[in-house]
Amino acid sequence: MRFTVISTSLLTVATCALLSSGHPTQKKRLLRSDTANGINDVLSGDEDCKDVAVIFARGTFDSGNIGVWVGPQFQAALESQINSLAFQGVEASAYPATLETYLAEGGSDSGAQSLASTVTDYVDFCPDSSVIISGWSQGALVAHKGLSLLAPEVQAKVVALTTFGDPNKLFTNESVPVGVAFHSECIGGTTLDPLCSDLPADFKFPTSLSDITDPFSELPGLGSGIAETAAAASIVLRFPGQLLASRAAFLEALTDTTKMQRLLLTPEHFTYGNNGLTSDAADFVAGLPAVAGK
Ligand SMILES: *[C@@H]1O[C@H](CO)[C@@H](O)[C@H](O)[C@H]1NC(C)=O
Repeated sequence: MRFTVISTSLLTVATCALLSSGHPTQKKRLLRSDTANGINDVLSGDEDCKDVAVIFARGTFDSGNIGVWVGPQFQAALESQINSLAFQGVEASAYPATLETYLAEGGSDSGAQSLASTVTDYVDFCPDSSVIISGWSQGALVAHKGLSLLAPEVQAKVVALTTFGDPNKLFTNESVPVGVAFHSECIGGTTLDPLCSDLPADFKFPTSLSDITDPFSELPGLGSGIAETAAAASIVLRFPGQLLASRAAFLEALTDTTKMQRLLLTPEHFTYGNNGLTSDAADFVAGLPAVAGK
C-alpha cells in the first residue's frame, strides 16, 4: 500500500490541506508516503511476483524506508512507466541512515546486508524478475555495497544500479559488476552537488562547521509538499548537532579534501526529487532491455 502514513500528525496536516485545497491532482503528492513495501508484499503472498523489483536506500536523515526527498518521487516516476513493479525501501530497522554510519562506515554496513538479503529472498521467490538496486546520498553507498555482497547467481538477476547524488568515489570507490548497467544522477553546473561532482579548481572549501550548516536554513524553501517541508524543518534542527558530534571528522577533513568533500552536504543535494532527475532515472530504467522487453 502506497498511502500508508508518514506519521499521524503529518497525515492530519495533509488531510487539512486537502480539505482546504480540494484539488484532486494534489492528493497523490500530499499523501505520498515515506514507506514502500512492495517486495515484502510479494514475499508474503499478498501480491504476485512483479516483472521488475526496485529496492531503494534512502539518504542520511531521511524517514520511513524510502524517505521523502527522492524515494517517493522515483517510485511515482517508475509507476507511471512500468505496470508490473514492486518498489521497496531498505528495512529501516537495519539501516538507521545517520551521519555517523555515513562517515564511519562509508554507508551503513547493516543496511547493505539487509538490502542484499531482501534481493536474495526476492530473486529466490521470483526468479523471472529483473531487479534494480537504487539509492540516494548515503543510500547510494548502501546500494553499491549491497550489490557487491550478492552471490553471483543473485547478482545475475540485477540489471541495473541507479544512484542519485552518489558519493561512492569519495569512499571505497566500489566498481560496478560487469553486466549491471550503471546510471548515476548528479547535479552539475553552478549549483553542483559536491558529493558526486568533480570540484572546480577554485572551489571554496568550508573552514568552519557553520560554513556547512548555515546554508541549510534555505532547505525548507526548497521542499515541495508537506512531507518535504516538515522533513526540512527537522533536518535544520538536527544537522548541526549531528555534525558537531562528528567534529573529529571535520577537523581531520581540514587537511584532506576528499574527506572534506564527504561532508559537503548541501541544500541542492535534497532536490533530486523535484529537479527532473528522478524522472530521468525512471526513463533509463524503463528503457533497459530487461525491463522494456517484459
Ligand atoms: C574509481 O574507480 C574508477 C575505475 O573503476 C577509476 O576510473 C577512478 O579513477 C576511481 N576514482 C577515484 C576517485 O579513485
